[in-house]
Parts: sequence; structure tokens; C-alpha cells
Amino acid sequence: MSGRKNAGKASPFLLLLISVGCFFATYNFLTMVGHGRSRDAGPRKILGGVGGVGGGGSDPSKRFHVALTATDALYSQWQSRVMYYWYREMRDRPGSDMGGFTRILHSGKPDGLMDEIPTLVVDPLPEGADRGYIVLNRPWAFVQWLKKSNIKEDYVLMAEPDHIFVRPLPNLAHGDEPAAFPFFYIKPTENEKILRKFFPEENGPVSKIDPIGNSPVIIKKAQLEKIAPTWMNISLKMKEDVETDKAFGWVLEMYAYAVASALHGVHYSLRKDFMIQPPWDAKSDNTFIIHYTYGCDYTLKGELTYGKIGEWRFDKRSYLRSPPPRNLTLPPPGVPESVATLVKMVNEATANIPGWDEER
Ligand SMILES: *[C@@H]1O[C@H](CO)[C@@H](O)[C@H](O)[C@H]1NC(C)=O
Ligand SMILES: *[C@@H]1O[C@H](CO)[C@@H](O)[C@H](O)[C@H]1NC(C)=O
Repeated sequence: MSGRKNAGKASPFLLLLISVGCFFATYNFLTMVGHGRSRDAGPRKILGGVGGVGGGGSDPSKRFHVALTATDALYSQWQSRVMYYWYREMRDRPGSDMGGFTRILHSGKPDGLMDEIPTLVVDPLPEGADRGYIVLNRPWAFVQWLKKSNIKEDYVLMAEPDHIFVRPLPNLAHGDEPAAFPFFYIKPTENEKILRKFFPEENGPVSKIDPIGNSPVIIKKAQLEKIAPTWMNISLKMKEDVETDKAFGWVLEMYAYAVASALHGVHYSLRKDFMIQPPWDAKSDNTFIIHYTYGCDYTLKGELTYGKIGEWRFDKRSYLRSPPPRNLTLPPPGVPESVATLVKMVNEATANIPGWDEER
């Protein structure tokens, strides 16, 4: 992660830009679309991400575009490569409603993966505006992408680099009711006092705010177009408010998304089966995505040593400066199936991605 720590003098400036609403024209969008496994015969729409029939023959009106926000840091790159590999594996299987794919690269310039992953380069926030909280770039990245892209799907999946598709993903949204994963640590009703600053009484009870973040979410593009600018506005306002910043910390941008959705009257279908998070979820047979955000540490007897480095471990944070090597050692017996599946899937991806170990 970059060390953009300086306090944000640029933020009021940015809010002004947003409220004026003409800032889109002032930003340049450098667009590059790589060559995915496209089955489109015709010329590719430059801003539509990769083509591909997708959906394993499913109803085209249900298909969703997979939008992955990422940076050019090596740490984000290797995860994005694994994520994209499994998207391509699952996209055309029966049961999938997966359509095209775009990596929204919010580092402002192309990186070494442009030919491997279909990518749209967007601008990061102005220096200092994120106040050292780099994920504030995510709403801004979506705002830019939605303005500039012309994807053909009506729906969007917002995904992250540390997501692995374990099954073909159907469209879990039902028309205007989008689908989201409920996070146990997002507790709107326990934070009423703070949330009222952003969700005034006239909007109704704070229980209207769903316990979600922006990812994973499958939502109609038309709904996201309304929510994204508000989400960006609210994240910046929350970040500026000392009390809110302190209360929400690293999940501030998730609360901002939840509040922005509620302000637009959008209610989500909460899908616990959307994803699992090893090591806390032991089985991967009833889910669609493995989210490997937590470290998995075990003794050689298969006992979890969470928070303490295990004799066997898989933790994405072990690979900040170089990607995981091919053929990682599988966990010892007794470790939950989900953890073994995760490592096998990482190994399968790294074995099959050409030039895995090469510098990007
Ligand atoms: C963003 O915030 C500004 C300043 O508070 C406001 O004027 C503007 O309407 C907001 N825009 C959106 C899309 O919420
Ligand atoms: C992977 O590593 C194991 C030992 O951990 C070894 O037995 C196996 O041959 C390796 N596979 C490949 C494809 O290199």
C-alpha cells in the first residue's frame, strides 16, 4: 500500500468538485482493454470490458458484469490474476450468469497486466484526499467506471482481488432487489447516533441500513449509478468527521456504501451463501466465493492457531513483495476442507497462468 498519509486539505475541494458535477470532463480516462478469452466475433467495444458470451447459455438479461477494483501494487496484482483465472474457469459453466469482466485499476496508469486482464485505468483521488485511507478510492473508481463504460449487462458484481469463485455464480439479485453478503461486524442499529449524521430521521429507522459493504454485491447497473456518487460523498464526509472516522476505522467505506444505498431506498437480499471466509467457515460446498482475507494458521496436527504464526500457514499478507510460489504445500490433515480447497485453487491458478513468476 502506498504511504499517502498527509492530512487531506484536498477533501473540501473534492466535495466542491463533486457538487458542481462537471468534474468528469476534466479527467482523462486512459483505457486499455486486454485480450481475454473472448468469444465475441465482432469488434470489441473498447470500454465494455472483455466480451465473452458468458453465462453458460443463461438468460442474457440476467447476466452481470464482473467489476474488480484493484491497484498496481504487486500484492493486488497476483490476487487479481488468481481471481481472473477462476472467473474464466467458471464463467461458461452451467448455472453461471457471469458476463464480461473489467479490472478497474485505480492507480491512474497502466500496469504490466493490461494484456492479461481486461482493464480500465481510472484516476486515484487527488493526493491527500483519501487521508491515508486508500479504499476511499473504490467509490471514486466506480463513479468513473460507470460514467465511462458501456457494458452490455444490466447488472454488476462488485468484486475484490481476494475473491475466488468456487462455483459458477448465478445472478442472486431479484430485479430491483440487489444481493449482498451480510457482514457480522457491520451493525447499523448499534451505531444509531453516528449514522444519524448521514441518515437523518426523515429517512426512517437506521434499521433500514443493511449490514453490508459494497462487495460482494450484485446490483442493477442503473441502481449503482445512483448509489455510487452518494457513496463517494458519504465516505469523504465520514472520513472528515473525527468521531465517525474513529468509530468505523477500516470499515468506514462499507458503512458509507450501506448508508448511500439506504438513502436511495435500495434494500438488499442478504445472502450468507454468497461467500465464505476461511478459516472461520469450514466448508466450501454451499457457497460461491472464497474470500481469503483472514490468515489461516495451523499446527501440523491441524489445530487452528489464529493470530499466532502456525507451523503450516496460508496468509495473503505473506506475499506483499512477491507472489506466492507455485505448488504451495497443502495443509496437514485435520484442517478444514475450505482451507485445503483455497490452497488447491490458488495452486491450480498459479500452475496454469503463463509467466506466473515473471516480474510485472
Ligand atoms: C455531495 O455533497 C455535496 C456537498 O455536501 C452536495 O452538494 C451534493 O449534492 C452531493 N452529491 C451527491 C451525489 O450526493
Ligand atoms: C508439488 O509439491 C509436491 C511436494 O510438496 C511434490 O510432490 C509435487 O511433485 C509438486 N508438484 C509439481 C507439479 O511440481
